[in-house]
Parts: sequence; C-alpha cells; structure tokens
Amino acid sequence: MCGIVGFAGHEPCMDIIVDGLRRLEYRGYDSAGIAVDEGGTLRTARSEGKLDNLVKKLRLEPFYGTFGVGHTRWATHGRPTEDNAHPHRSGSVAVVHNGIIENHVELKAELRQKGYVFQSETDTEVIAHLVADFRAAGHDLAHAVFHAMSRLHGAYAIVVIDATEPGTLVGARLASPLVVGLGQGENFLASDVSAILARTRDIHFLEEGQLAIVKRDGVELRDATTFESLPLRPVHVTWTPAMAEKGGYKHFMLKEIHEQPRAVADTLRGRVSLERAEVVLPEVPLTREDLATASQIYLVACGTSWHAGLVGRYHFEDLAGVAVHVELASELRYRNAPIDDRTIVIAISQSGETADTLAAIREAKKKGAKVLSICNVIGSSIPRESVGTLYTHAGPEIGVASTKAFTTQLVALHLLAIHFGRLLGRLDEATARTELEALLHAPSLLEAALTLPGHDEPYIAIARRWHEAHSMLFLGRGNLYPIALEGALKLKEISYIHAEGQAAGEMKHGPIALIDERVPTVILNPRDAHFLKTRSNLAEVRARSGPVILVASADDPDAASHADHVLPIPAGIPSRLLPLVTSLPMQLLAYHMADFKGTDVDQPRNLAKSVTVE
Ligand code: G6P
Repeated sequence: MCGIVGFAGHEPCMDIIVDGLRRLEYRGYDSAGIAVDEGGTLRTARSEGKLDNLVKKLRLEPFYGTFGVGHTRWATHGRPTEDNAHPHRSGSVAVVHNGIIENHVELKAELRQKGYVFQSETDTEVIAHLVADFRAAGHDLAHAVFHAMSRLHGAYAIVVIDATEPGTLVGARLASPLVVGLGQGENFLASDVSAILARTRDIHFLEEGQLAIVKRDGVELRDATTFESLPLRPVHVTWTPAMAEKGGYKHFMLKEIHEQPRAVADTLRGRVSLERAEVVLPEVPLTREDLATASQIYLVACGTSWHAGLVGRYHFEDLAGVAVHVELASELRYRNAPIDDRTIVIAISQSGETADTLAAIREAKKKGAKVLSICNVIGSSIPRESVGTLYTHAGPEIGVASTKAFTTQLVALHLLAIHFGRLLGRLDEATARTELEALLHAPSLLEAALTLPGHDEPYIAIARRWHEAHSMLFLGRGNLYPIALEGALKLKEISYIHAEGQAAGEMKHGPIALIDERVPTVILNPRDAHFLKTRSNLAEVRARSGPVILVASADDPDAASHADHVLPIPAGIPSRLLPLVTSLPMQLLAYHMADFKGTDVDQPRNLAKSVTVE
C-alpha cells in the first residue's frame, strides 16, 4: 500500500529518500511527500499523482538537510489530493503513516477541543497533533510517540520527526510492516526492505508493538507498551532488489495470495460491532426505507469481480432474504433492463476504472437507479460516480490475475448482506452475531489454509503431471459454483490452458462428453450441504476414466481414495466461508501450473489489469 522511507545520516537526504520512494512505486500510490529538517526548521513538499510531480517541485527548491522522511500514499481516508498527502504536520512535528487509525473520529474531536486545527481529511493527522500534544507536555520525541501509541487503535506503521529534536526518527508498528536499516554512519526506517537495499542489507524487521529510535550513529529499540529496552536482531538480507519488491516471493501473484489473511482483516477492520450485532458502514447511505421500497437490486461487474457478485447472491438471499440480479456489465448496458428509480445497483470493481462497469452504472443512473460500489482503489472513477462506496482495502494488486481483490470483495459482499439483513429486520441479533463472529475468523481460516503441512506438494505434483493438458473442467455446486468459474478463469488467464467452470449438476447436460483420461476435472467437494451430491458427480467423472483433482476438507478420510490428487482445506469451515477458503486452492493451482510452464505469471499475454476500453 503506502510507502515509507526515513533517513538519518551525514549526506543530504532528499535524493536518498526520493530514490527509496521510487523503489516502492510498484506498490501503487496516488500522491507523495517528504519532510526534511533544515537546521532546526522542518520543510515539507507534497504532490498529488506521480513521484515525478514531487521531484519537479524539489528541483525548483531542493532540500539539503541530512535527516527526514518521505511517503507515497495510497488513499484510504480522504481523497488522493495534495492536502491529504503525507507528511502531516503539527508545528515542528511531521508524521508519515501506513494503515488505518480506527478511532480517529474521537481523537479528532478531542484534539479540536484542545485547539488543534486539522488541515486534511486523513486519519493520519490525528497522530501528528497527538504527538505534538505530548511534546508540549514536556516529553521527548520517543516518549511522545510512545504515549501517542497508547491512544491509537487500528493498524499502523508510523515514522515521526520533530525539528526541535533534530537527528531523531521515531518509528513504530502495529500490524503494518516497518523495518530498520543499519548502515555505516547512517540508518533508515522503511516500510519495505526494497526501499533501502541499495544502501544497506542489514535489516531489523520491527515486530508488533516495537518502537525504534533511529539516529545516524545508532538505533535503540523499545517495547511500545513498557518502553523497556529490547535487543536489535539484524539479519543480513541477500535478496535482489526485484525479489525484495516481491517480499521474497517469486511473483507478485504469489505474494498477493499470501497477503490474503491480512487483506481480509483490513476489509473487516472497524466494520463489525459484535456488541450491537451490526455491521458499521457509514459509507453506505442506505436506510431501511430505501431497502424496503427498492424494487430490485443488481450486482454489476466484469471478470473476477462478476464471480464475486455470483457468490454475493447467496449471501444476499440467505442473510437478507433479498433476490439480486448478478449482471455482466458488458451485457447489462446493452439490454433493456427495467431499471428505475426504485432500483439499487451495486457495482463491483477492483480498479474502479473498468469501462463496461462504468458505462453500465452511468446508464443505470440515467434511469434513476441509486448506485453504490464495492471497490479497491480509492478515488477511482466508479466510486466517484457512486453515492457510496465500500472500499475493500486489499492494498495494491500488481499481478494481473486477481486474487486478494477477489477474496476481499467476497468479504465486503458478506458484510453488506448482513447489513441489509439487519436493516430489513430479517436477521435477528443472535444470528447476526454468530454470523459476524464466524466472519471475523476468516483471516485465521485463510492463514490456516495457507500453512497446512506439506501445502505446496500436491500443487507441484499436479503441475508436473498436467502442465501439458489441453483442457480442464472445474465443478462446484451451490456457493462453490462461482468458485469453479473463478478457478477456470484463473487457470486460463495465466497458464493458457483451456478451462471451463460448470455447476456440478449441469455436467451431465453436456460437459460430461469432454471427459476422458486426458482431461482432468477439478471438483470442489469440501464438507457442506451438497457433499454427497457432488461426490456422485465425482464418481461419474471417474467412471469415464477422468482424472480427478479433489478440493476436500482435511478430515475427509476417503478423499485420497476418490481422487488422483487431493487439495486439502482446513476441516470445519462454515459453509458460507467456503467460497473464500476454496478460492485459495484455485489460485494456487493456476499459479503452480503457470509457474511450471514458465509463463509470465504476473503479466500474462493479452490481458490488462485495468480494462478501460469497451
Ligand atoms: C480485467 C482484469 C480482471 C478483472 C476485470 C474486472 O479483465 O484482468 O482480473 O477481474 O478486468 O476488473 P475490475 O477492476 O473492474 O474488477
């Protein structure tokens, strides 16, 4: 997501920081900024858009100071404007921040009462004022940050500097990554090793709740709850800069697959009130009245986002008792669908820029529909044209094949369905609470699925055996039917193997004719209400000599005897979370097939990440 680079040394730091930010550009960002101490005065420069805009400003008025901090921002709270770009200031204090401060509204109110004036729409600015407030009470910078941390809820990596305490950078992390780089007469703080690898390979990876006091001649580490001193544990990193950008993973796609527990946690963060058994979605301006009088609801999307919509339909029917039409944007826009001013349209888009989705919502708006969206990229076109947007907060997705954007969309739709169910009075408090509790476990279920013992082995074995296959089938039933579609799409996108997703019950109406010993069938058959029915489909495939790749619950004792290959998922997953968890074997299967074939996994031929043509 956002990028941070902090430097304390002997050389002028402007170019060093800008170079570090450049190495973080791959993460995606929408504005950039820098703060440098110039002999006891803090100078800042910020720009909307690309880093080059900032560089142009800095060329006109260069900074010469030897300690400072820079940031590339990927908007979460507040539009991607210069005013919202980091660093944020409070007097002599400047702060850069990655993550989300969940209690920023209450902190803002409290700080305003004390006379602090806010210049931005961000949650970050509260940190600057909070630190300044503790400084004003006589604390040194490290203690001021330490006290401020005790007031912050959420997920963050921060770096703070203060011109009245020159030469000191204070960094801290909770949930968002931050590393300390140890150089010769210079030290660094950065959100990602790739930013500083050109200058040092000796890195201390800050752990949760650690605070680092970084000066050019040394680094001190403190426990952020007790302020006790902690030992630095530097490791020597041997990654190449390209590997570092990918966090040590071979491809962005693999990195993004492994980021899903964190991404899904970010989608949920601050949106669930277990106490009230409600979903907290102030960004969705829909009343009970709006929903009760709505004549119809459309979910509109393209590609993988459309598959998310197909899963969403099950959530809306089960949890809110509402029927929804799930539409391909490229079809809906050319149909004469009876959309009117009692229609609610929910556009689903990772990029927020897909031309067909944009055109479909414009068409719907013309007919009077109320348009909401589920989107990953803040400030993109689709949210700008919606009355409200539920952002997925998945972080930038670089791999063209969508992974974490998809699973976070599933979670956003699940939240929205519970929200609708509560608003309409169709989901009672106890059921809603149970549902929300289960959903809050989603990140740990995904983590468990990604760390099953011997996890990669079956994928590698399948890739070795089947990478030359010409065609594959994917079967799923109920809420796993859309996952079969998504599994087939993933495979064809990156491995170029023809693949077809089918509803398991439809196999006998045509696709069964394709089955022979050269066409493997992937069957989504974990323990759910359809377990036995789908197992019968599996038997039908095997009876025709079709090789079977079975996605099964880890406690299914018969799985191995029913299949050529088994892709296990953890046992005991609640049915409504199965689409989320079974997405992982679909992604990993496609990934390993493509990797084995040696295709360009992150930038497959003919495909684009954001399709802005119709
Ligand atoms: C492109 C991408 C797909 C994506 C689709 C819709 O085809 O390659 O991964 O699902 O567009 O994109 P959106 O940004 O609207 O979700």
